[in-house]
Amino acid sequence: MARQVYISGRMVPEAEAKISIFDSAIMLADTVTESTRTFRHIPFKLEQHIERLYLSLKLTRIDPGMSAAEMLRTTLDVFEANLDNYAAHEDCWIVHNISRGLAIAGADPTVQVGKATVMIFTQFMDLKPWARFYKDGCHGVTPVSRMVPSQSLDPRIKNRSRLAYTLAEMEAKQVDPAAQSVILDLNGHVAENKGGNIFCISKGVLKTPSTVNCLAGVSRATVLELARKLGIPTEETVVQPYDLATADEMFFTSTPYCIMPATRFNTLPVGDGKVGPITKRLLAAWSELVGMDIVAQAEAQIN
Ligand SMILES: Cc1ncc(COP(=O)(O)O)c(C=O)c1O
Repeated sequence: MARQVYISGRMVPEAEAKISIFDSAIMLADTVTESTRTFRHIPFKLEQHIERLYLSLKLTRIDPGMSAAEMLRTTLDVFEANLDNYAAHEDCWIVHNISRGLAIAGADPTVQVGKATVMIFTQFMDLKPWARFYKDGCHGVTPVSRMVPSQSLDPRIKNRSRLAYTLAEMEAKQVDPAAQSVILDLNGHVAENKGGNIFCISKGVLKTPSTVNCLAGVSRATVLELARKLGIPTEETVVQPYDLATADEMFFTSTPYCIMPATRFNTLPVGDGKVGPITKRLLAAWSELVGMDIVAQAEAQIN
């Protein structure tokens, strides 16, 4: 069945979804966004994603023309209309992109001249790019480019202005094609990855940067909740490259892969260079929470 997508009030086959070349999404990357995933065809924490979306809309002063409750209902309609496209063992993304709509050329791009462009779609959850890292761990690399400072653009606003993240990730991958960026802020503190949050474990304590310099990730919050349930002490604190280099364990968190272990940081082994026991416990707890084996699903895509 052709994928059905939602665009500004209508559900249409994807080939019929069109936006103007003058849309502020294109002219200004003036767009907020969310990405949710499903586990066993059940959307995970969709309400929290929509809550974060509405905070991003508030801060960017974009009026989406519908309430959060209507957004939730519309999102579920889009998801349900596409469910037949995914086999029982597969899952999908549910993505929201909302721009300020048509951009007016000239002095004041901040005025919303018409309706926001509301785009919602689903997409196959392709886990191949990350699947091997559950066993081997990935390589965290600090790129030369730093985070856009929070004083310029608060990273808690989840937005589509992705050039800075893209360049930083590219720099990390020039060091090692399999690297994942560990982007530092202007103070040299660990901030986040281009699409994920960063954790380390030292002497049994799970540490992650506070949200002064990174997105308040839904997966980040999930890991903190799981850690508390498992009795693992947690700290939201300043994390420096030194802390990652000397940690016993390190991992990234993000919606598609949930927890991605890292076994090297800037070419140094993290701990003993193997995926650590606390990382594995957290992954197992997450699998239990969603009633399926997260690692097995991803590994099945590459084996
Ligand atoms: C810059 C950035 N940081 C962190 C994350 C992780 O957030 P979440 O766990 O909500 O997917 C994302 C997700 O896309 C992101 O784009």
